[in-house]
Amino acid sequence: AKITYIEHNGTEHTIDVENGMTVMEGAIKNSIPGIDADCGGACACATCHVYVAEGWTEKVGPAESMEEDMLDFAFDVRENSRLSCQIKVTDELDGLKVNLPEKQF
Ligand code: FES
Repeated sequence: AKITYIEHNGTEHTIDVENGMTVMEGAIKNSIPGIDADCGGACACATCHVYVAEGWTEKVGPAESMEEDMLDFAFDVRENSRLSCQIKVTDELDGLKVNLPEKQF
């Protein structure tokens, strides 16, 4: 599925991310700046924080409680904040846009 990562400065990167990978893995594999993912996807670092673009939050779904707890450690958390290592890519998410925060902590 095509995922567009929008850096804080507005630079967009549209990447074809394989189904089954996470939005975080797609970013790391393609060296998108702005996602650190220090814990490697274990939902234990909150440095893979993204904002789900308008119109996508419903498809992406809400954060689970473990993710919610971890999000408390992220910088500038908003209503549409998610940890990108907890978003699995599927055909459903083709065209998804995520905005990257100014910094990860
Ligand atoms: Fe650490 Fe997502 S990569 S919480």
